[in-house]
Amino acid sequence: MTNPAPIMSYTASSTRYQSMQYRRCGKSGIKLPVISLGLWHNFGHVDDLENARTILRLAFDIGITHFDLANNYGPPPGSAEENFGTIMKQDLHPYRDEMIISTKAGYYMWEGPYGEWGSKKYLVSSLDQSLKRMGLEYVDIFYHHRPDPGTPLEETMSALDLIVRQGKALYAGISNYKAEDAAKAIAMLRELGTPCLIHQPKYSMFERWVEGGLLDVLGTEGVGCIPFSPLAQGLLTDRYLHGIPADSRAGRSGIFLKPAQITEEKLAKVRALNDIAQQRGQTLAQMALAWVLKDERVTSVLIGASKPSQVTDAAGALSRGPFTAGELAAIEAILA
Ligand SMILES: NC(=O)c1ccc[n+]([C@@H]2O[C@H](COP(=O)([O-])OP(=O)(O)OC[C@H]3O[C@@H](n4cnc5c(N)ncnc54)[C@H](OP(=O)(O)O)[C@@H]3O)[C@@H](O)[C@H]2O)c1
Repeated sequence: MTNPAPIMSYTASSTRYQSMQYRRCGKSGIKLPVISLGLWHNFGHVDDLENARTILRLAFDIGITHFDLANNYGPPPGSAEENFGTIMKQDLHPYRDEMIISTKAGYYMWEGPYGEWGSKKYLVSSLDQSLKRMGLEYVDIFYHHRPDPGTPLEETMSALDLIVRQGKALYAGISNYKAEDAAKAIAMLRELGTPCLIHQPKYSMFERWVEGGLLDVLGTEGVGCIPFSPLAQGLLTDRYLHGIPADSRAGRSGIFLKPAQITEEKLAKVRALNDIAQQRGQTLAQMALAWVLKDERVTSVLIGASKPSQVTDAAGALSRGPFTAGELAAIEAILA
């Protein structure tokens, strides 16, 4: 990561709470902004720290109070948390009590048998490392990042309960759990006295598995839902309408969004969806976010951004009002 040019010290915008909408997270006391920002890409040591800093400051200035990390975000793994810690120290620390900061553990982080999955040993050690990297005393939400077929669910959930009781996290969450396993985890956490705040699944127009049961479980149990990759990593935007830009996710690393995934069949759908968005007077990114947020069981959508303008664009997602039945039917016909 390049050294940041010295930018002026930061005072948050006095209008930051004027236009963002906030939704209650399940049946909890917490409200989240309908747009939240994730630091999976574009915040590692390989990226430009000044750009990362500009994006975070802008996001906070327009009412985005929720920032999502994980132990392994970078690259290299851990570096997104380190950079976030740097920016907290430089700019955002006076606003800590206005922020919901989350991190996670579940994927590979260090060598040996205790560096991934769902043991109490791994989760507790990983969160301690994350707190050091970010320079925080606690996170607001700590997630188990992915289900672990090898560890009893009771152990993983009791680790989340322990972490909350220790005050290292205020709330517990789960991510990537299928409906049935989520129901079990939610019941266990409730029994332990640390209710599950939120579930983080992948959900977008192109990835709709949560409609097959998970959203029903979360709605019934009063657990919040924050879909990740609601823009299908950029596919559901105008990013790839005219080829693969060199500075795009597919053009840059091509690991998580491979150029081969951007097929002519996908692009035909993207173009047709883009036409509907234009008729609605919004960008495709805004329409894709509004489409996920039309379900009230969805608390917030978790976007990524490589440029400040993408955050501003997302923040306008709900400015066009609800979809008509005709628009929804036309979208279904394209996605079918
Ligand atoms: N729990 C999990 O297992 C898990 C997994 C993945 C992600 N997540 C979380 O979810 C967050 C978001 O994931 P994601 O980055 O895949 O989300 P996404 O919002 O689907 O994709 C973000 C990418 O879309 C493009 N983009 C965003 N806004 C745009 C706009 N207005 N116009 C044009 N292009 C736009 C940018 O691509 P370019 O970079 O090409 O500009 C950006 O990097 C992550 O940061 C992380 O916090 C969690």
